[in-house]
Amino acid sequence: MSNRTFTMIKPDATGKGYTGAILDQIIKAGFTVKAMKWVRLTEEQAGLFYDIHRARPFFQELVDFMISGPIVAAILEKDNAVADFRELIGATNPANAAEGTIRKLYAANIGENAVHGSDSDENAIIEGDFFFSKLERF
Ligand code: CMP
Repeated sequence: MSNRTFTMIKPDATGKGYTGAILDQIIKAGFTVKAMKWVRLTEEQAGLFYDIHRARPFFQELVDFMISGPIVAAILEKDNAVADFRELIGATNPANAAEGTIRKLYAANIGENAVHGSDSDENAIIEGDFFFSKLERF
C-alpha cells in the first residue's frame, strides 16, 4: 500500500472559485501536499494524460473540458491515500456521490466533476510523474 495519491482540481472548480475551499477540505481530511502547481494543459497534454480513455465516446469532450481553464495538480500524502482520497471526493458522477464529499458539494455532472483522484497506487505514480519532476516534489 502506497501513501501517496495524485489529484487535479479541474477547470469547472477553479473557474467557480472553489480552489481554496477544496484544498482546505483536503488538508483538513489529513492529506499533506507533497507537490503542487497551477497550470493550463494543452490539448496534446490533456490527451496524453487521459490516453487510457482515447477510445471512449466522451474522450474529446473530456479533453475540451480539461483545457478550458487552469487546473491545480498535486501529489498528496496520507496513510491509505488512494482509497481515502476517493472516499473524500465521492463517486465520479456527483449524482451518486455521498453527502459531504467534494464532488457532491462542488461538481455539476459526470463530465464537469470538480476533481480527479488516482484509482490505484500504480496510476498515482504515473500521474504524479506526468506533472512533476523530482525537483518539484518534497
Ligand atoms: P476522472 O476520474 O478524472 O477521469 C476520467 C474522467 O472522464 C472522469 O473523471 C470524468 O470526468 C470523465 N468521464 C467519465 N465518464 C464520463 C461520461 N460518461 N461522460 C463524460 N465524461 C466522463
